[in-house]
Amino acid sequence: MNLARNFTRNTIFQVIFNSIFQVMVVLQTFILSAAHHQVHNQNDVEQYWRKRPNCEGLSAVLWNNELYNGCVDKLQKELLMNILGERDNIKTVLDLGCGIGRLSKFLAQQGYSVTAVDFEEMIRKAKQLNPHQNVEYLEIRMQDFKSMTHYDCVLCSAVLYTIHSWNELTKIINKTVRHLGCGYYILMEPFHTDPLLRRQPCFSIGEITKFFESLGLKVVKKSGILFWPFRMVLANSKIDSQRDMASLFEAGESIMRHFSPMLLSDYKVLILAKSCSG
Ligand SMILES: C[S@@+](CC[C@H](N)C(=O)[O-])C[C@H]1O[C@@H](n2cnc3c(N)ncnc32)[C@H](O)[C@@H]1O
Repeated sequence: MNLARNFTRNTIFQVIFNSIFQVMVVLQTFILSAAHHQVHNQNDVEQYWRKRPNCEGLSAVLWNNELYNGCVDKLQKELLMNILGERDNIKTVLDLGCGIGRLSKFLAQQGYSVTAVDFEEMIRKAKQLNPHQNVEYLEIRMQDFKSMTHYDCVLCSAVLYTIHSWNELTKIINKTVRHLGCGYYILMEPFHTDPLLRRQPCFSIGEITKFFESLGLKVVKKSGILFWPFRMVLANSKIDSQRDMASLFEAGESIMRHFSPMLLSDYKVLILAKSCSG
C-alpha cells in the first residue's frame, strides 16, 4: 500500500517536473534566440567586459534582476565558505577575473589575503565598490598575470568560460596552476557545449577536468549550482518581491539537487586539489 502511494507520489512529481522542464526549454529557446544575437556579434569579448562596469550593482557581472543576483551571490559565498572554511591551511587566494570584487571582498572579510585580477575598468569599479585592506586589486588580463607568489587557492567564478580558444585556455590554466601552492583550484563556470546553453564556443566540464588531471590535480568535488531552466527565466525577469524570488530560487536549486546538479546546473562547480608531494 505504502509502496503504491510512494510510487504514485513519485510519478506525479516526475510528471510535474517534466512539464516544468519542457516549458522552461521552450522559454529558454526564445530567450536564447534573442541573446544569441548579442553573443554571436560579440567578437571582442574584452571590449564587452570593459563596458559592463557601466551597469549598476551586481548586474555589472551577473544578470539584470538584482534580486536573482543577490540569491546567486549568497549561494556562491556559502559554497566558498563550505569549501574553504574547513581548511586551516588556506590563507591566500588568487581571484581571476574578479569583476567588481564581490567575492574578493567577501573572502578578505573572512580573513583571507586576496589578489584580484581583471581589466582596468572592472578594477576601478571594484576599488570603488569593494575596497578592503586585504585585497590587492591588479589591473591586468589574466593571460598577462605574473607573480612570484604561490597562492593557497585559485578562484575562477565565471571567467574561464570567456576564453574562446582551447590553446589560450590551457595556457591560462597551466600558468595559474603553477601559481598554486598545495591548495585548491575552485571553478564555478558555465561550461556547456550544448548550443542552447553555451555563451560562445565553450568547452565541456569533462574536457576541463581531464586537462586539470593531466597537470596532476585531483578532483575533490564536482557539482553544480543555478538550475538552468530557472536561471534563464528568473535572472532577467521583472520579479520584484524578494520573498518570491528567494522561494523560486530555492525551489530551483532543490529540484536540481534532487535530480542531477551536473546535468541541470548552469554553473558547474569543480574543486581540484594540488598536493604538496605531487
Ligand atoms: C561574469 S564576470 C564574473 C566576475 C566575478 N568573477 C564574479 O563572479 O563576480 C566575468 C569577469 O571576467 C573578466 N574577464 C574576462 N576576460 C578576462 C581576462 N582575459 N582577464 C581578466 N579578466 C577577464 C571580466 O572583465 C569580468 O569581470
